[in-house]
Amino acid sequence: MTSMADDAVSRDEPYVDDIVRMLVALSIVWAILGMAAGLLAAAQLVWPSLDFGQSWLSYGRIRTLHTNAVVFGFGVTALMGTGLYTVQRTCHTRLFASGLAWFMAWGWQVTVLVGGISLLLGMNAGKEYAELEWPLDIAIAVFWVSFGVVFFGTIAKRTIRPIYVSNWFYGALIIVIAMLHIVNSLSIPVSWTKSYSLYAGAQDAIVQWWYGHNAVGFLLTGGFLGMMYYFLPKQAGRPIWSYKLSIVAFWAFTYSYIWAGPHHLHYNAIPEWVQSLGMVMSLVLLAPSWATMVNGVMTVSASWKTLRTDPAIKFIVLSLAFYGLATFEGPMMSIKSVNVVSHFTEWTIGHVHSGALGWNALITFGTFYFLVPRLVGHPLHSVRLADWHFYLALGGTMLYVLSMWGAGVSQGLLWLNVDELGELRYSFNDIMAASAPYYALRLVAGGVFLAGALLMAYNLYTTIAGRPTVVVRPPLEAETVAAS
Ligand code: HEM
Ligand code: HEM
Repeated sequence: MTSMADDAVSRDEPYVDDIVRMLVALSIVWAILGMAAGLLAAAQLVWPSLDFGQSWLSYGRIRTLHTNAVVFGFGVTALMGTGLYTVQRTCHTRLFASGLAWFMAWGWQVTVLVGGISLLLGMNAGKEYAELEWPLDIAIAVFWVSFGVVFFGTIAKRTIRPIYVSNWFYGALIIVIAMLHIVNSLSIPVSWTKSYSLYAGAQDAIVQWWYGHNAVGFLLTGGFLGMMYYFLPKQAGRPIWSYKLSIVAFWAFTYSYIWAGPHHLHYNAIPEWVQSLGMVMSLVLLAPSWATMVNGVMTVSASWKTLRTDPAIKFIVLSLAFYGLATFEGPMMSIKSVNVVSHFTEWTIGHVHSGALGWNALITFGTFYFLVPRLVGHPLHSVRLADWHFYLALGGTMLYVLSMWGAGVSQGLLWLNVDELGELRYSFNDIMAASAPYYALRLVAGGVFLAGALLMAYNLYTTIAGRPTVVVRPPLEAETVAAS
């Protein structure tokens, strides 16, 4: 096990961090906007009249706005910012083509913004997580490939030989998402705002869920693992527990994830063997997922004391626990006899948010608590506020997930309840009425979680506002990252 200094550029030409600062700030803005849209969607499920008869405020559009703003606004912007920060430090070099980096960073922001407006106006390609119409798809491809050029260009000009494991995950994110997006978005345009997919029927479904599942895999999972592998050891001040395990887990994860998409299509009009393959590969995925979780937890095991005092570590370690939960639940839900209950119910939504809130949002918040004080050269404004945020985030996530499990399991079982003639015992209306209390609880949960995120935004904003006029960079030797 060796330790490698990760800050070896000269003081006269420091790392390109302005762009990271900008991306972190915009990611927080998207988090708040996206979660506010999620909260409105949750409120509409309690009070459907909250669309005020306006089509642009209808549930279908607000829900899609929510998923796009949180995944592509909050999540991807955070991944771009942290990826550009990490790759420079672990490659001991400045960013390659920083002009291109600014182009892709602003281009991405404009695309997500215009995309959100187009969704509210009712333009929709009809594919989940790939709803934007073809001109925006082309823009996404251009900016994403630019991200790849900047990232891999920086790796190519690195001044040390090893490529640290977080770069493998960020690299896989960039390559796989480019491939998925370009193939799944192939379509025939009939006007500037409408196109039809090149695929039809079962092929369309398989391509769509190859995309949808691997977007979860390489973006919501792999990308954030890249974040974890850099920021967790860095904040814990120790090397990753087993570097070998991290590499084995990377390849096992990459090979098995790509086959698991058909678990989204159980009991559908696709071949039976494809569904079974999806199920088996999902079960296999449990191994690399938990290996990674164990590796992360063991990395902090020698510095448990920091868990009480350090907000960044608290968030990151809790996010690993939710990562473990979501990656245990996912393989279980991919078993066909379990999926028959969970599919088409809020159980799926509970699973999604144990990953999205518990894993993606918490690890990003922890990373921002680490990053912002370093980026502005000023300590965090208030550790106490960050502690409050931690408890609100934990409480909000738990309540969200438990309420959706309650709703989902009851919906699934009520749906399957048939009389001796095979007729449904409960109507759709009965089932929605039974779900009402759970929806109300989820609304409260979302409010609590969002309140915590607002506290973070205030805390980080005040940290930035209180920075010295001349930014003092920390001594170079103080910046070391662990790797072996
Ligand atoms: C070993 C890892 C995982 C496996 C095997 C897995 C499996 C599954 C399964 C079986 C479903 C339900 C499919 C359906 O009935 O339609 C699902 C849905 C979903 N999962 Fe996971 N999951 C895993 C981890 C995660 C993680 C870490 C996240 C992070 C947020 C996540 C996000 C999602 C999302 C967004 C959906 C909903 C997709 C839709 O729109 O229908 N999953 N997953
Ligand atoms: C204040 C926090 C949040 C609230 C109140 C919220 C609320 C909601 C609601 C009401 C839905 C629709 C559920 C349904 O159709 O039954 C939804 C779906 C979804 N949310 Fe959130 N959400 C929040 C945070 C997040 C975050 C941070 C992410 C991602 C990082 C996320 C990702 C998703 C995804 C991927 C779906 C679609 C799931 C599917 O189709 O299976 N949400 N959310």
